[in-house]
Amino acid sequence: MCGIVGAIGERNVAGILLTGLKRLEYRGYDSAGVAIIGQDGLQRVRREGKVQGLEDAVQASHTSGQIGIAHTRWATHGVPSERNAHPHMSGDDLALVHNGIIENYQALRDALQGEGYTFTSDTDTEVIVHLIHQAQARGEDLLAAVQSTVRRLRGAYALGVVSTSDPDRFIAVRSGSPLVVGLGIGENYVASDQLALLPVTTRFIFLQEGDVAEVCRDSVRIFDRDGTQVERDIHEFDGTHEDAEKGEYRHYMLKEIFEQPVALQRTLEGRLGSVADLDGLFSENADLLHKVRNIQIIACGTSYHAGMIARYWLEALAGVPCQVEVASEFRYRSHVVPEGTLFVTISQSGETADTLAALRATSSPNYVGRLAVCNVDSSSLVRESELVLLTRAGPEIGVASTKAFTTQLAALMMLVLALGRVRGLEQARIQTVLDEMRQLPGLIQQVLQLDGDIEKLAEDFVEKHHTLFLGRGTQYPVAMEGALKLKEISYIHAEAYPAGELKHGPLALVDKDMPVVAVAPNDELLEKLKSNLQEVRARGGELYIFADRDAALQNEDGVTVLNMPPVPECLIPIVYTVPLQLLSYHVAVMRGTDVDQPRNLAKSVTVE
Ligand code: G6P
Repeated sequence: MCGIVGAIGERNVAGILLTGLKRLEYRGYDSAGVAIIGQDGLQRVRREGKVQGLEDAVQASHTSGQIGIAHTRWATHGVPSERNAHPHMSGDDLALVHNGIIENYQALRDALQGEGYTFTSDTDTEVIVHLIHQAQARGEDLLAAVQSTVRRLRGAYALGVVSTSDPDRFIAVRSGSPLVVGLGIGENYVASDQLALLPVTTRFIFLQEGDVAEVCRDSVRIFDRDGTQVERDIHEFDGTHEDAEKGEYRHYMLKEIFEQPVALQRTLEGRLGSVADLDGLFSENADLLHKVRNIQIIACGTSYHAGMIARYWLEALAGVPCQVEVASEFRYRSHVVPEGTLFVTISQSGETADTLAALRATSSPNYVGRLAVCNVDSSSLVRESELVLLTRAGPEIGVASTKAFTTQLAALMMLVLALGRVRGLEQARIQTVLDEMRQLPGLIQQVLQLDGDIEKLAEDFVEKHHTLFLGRGTQYPVAMEGALKLKEISYIHAEAYPAGELKHGPLALVDKDMPVVAVAPNDELLEKLKSNLQEVRARGGELYIFADRDAALQNEDGVTVLNMPPVPECLIPIVYTVPLQLLSYHVAVMRGTDVDQPRNLAKSVTVE
């Protein structure tokens, strides 16, 4: 999604802006631009395509100055092109960048055109900059003009605004789209994500909904939605600069796959010493767990798959009924909320627009509480939920989610055990699962050693156009996640099916050109799965099976088996996800796609 960076200092800020944009590239974008106030007034440079192209253009035009705003655009209104790229301007003196969607833009645009404003783009954004211009023309200063303009906007937005009339400050607004203020020495910044600013600061203020910030070199003033000046806490970045670097790895995705043992270690740390530790998970609201009679999980994308797996665990281990739904569907349908429902959101970023909107619509008194399972502790989702389970995966940059998913699963298993404990799950059973969970980092490490074998396997997929993924039980969502990874980054069409459903349709597609990937741990459904795989073989389908080495599955003509270590049942979905991540990664690399920033996709989907 769109990314914003703004900076003011005593030096040329072009480098800060461009570095910031590069660090936001992971969010997904199609064009980029900057507007900088320098000796020659306001200079704007925009380019379709990569930030590198923009950087070259900025250098070639010697654009420089001590205050500026910058943007990466992910097209919503209007095709990806230079004319639709931000910043947008009104006249020669005022420029604006925007992340989000303005829902009432058409009415505003019609009115502005009626008053003589000419539009040079197809975006919803351009109305905002003309409205601010209009307010300035009425005599309002930049801050007042932005404040009066945002009162006329409906929708979600984060904004950055500069004007040559006010060359010593820029204005930033947060309403529905994330924005963080970075504090430097003699210079200050804003960005959509603190990662963008780590090269220049580790001190941040997370703006709250409706906040308007006036950012000067030596001061930052923040006003709430009502225009009252407010104080917001300053947070020190909790992590290292390297967490967000690629290091020796070719892609962030590969680094993040290989980081999983460490990330999982962090998720579990201090939480699994003994059964009693589970009580500490939600220390402040522990009583709430006693009231839970039902669970509603809401999420999007990969996080939704984590929710699907958690449902199996919640019903089997904690004995609590559970529904799981994608946020974009849930939020627009009427639903019955059973008494005693815990509303659980799962999200890597904590800023996904649909998930947040679903959370904000939880008005029924039948909800006993709202729990966020999230990777970003400063996110909106975390701030707006009374219970929080942080996954502690560290920054995830690759658009295709990997370590965020496996750490979500580990966190969800802890929730299952905590609920199981208050609902009478035997202590000995809980202790066994806790002991098994401590094996997780080591088991993942073993699977990562299969990387070379998986890379060889990937060669068979490079020329294919379709792939089918099969699993049963908790392995069905694992298969869904495998299919999602493959389609996201290799652009090969991939579908996942519960293996028992094969004969009800997808079997018709199976032939030698449709590889079938199956996950076959040694669990109670193994024999059933084997029969389903026979159905594939009998129709000439090529099988690739990730199987427990005790599953008695052998390589044979048309069947390639990759042996996995024996895995305790509760860890199976976490461990079996890893080879599927590696498979997608290698197929994508061989096909030459942009692995970390696949076409058309965004890391953090902050618009509906
Ligand atoms: C986007 C990302 C996915 C992610 C999904 C949900 O589609 O590309 O990787 O799973 O959003 O994001 P969240 O941050 O809520 O987990």
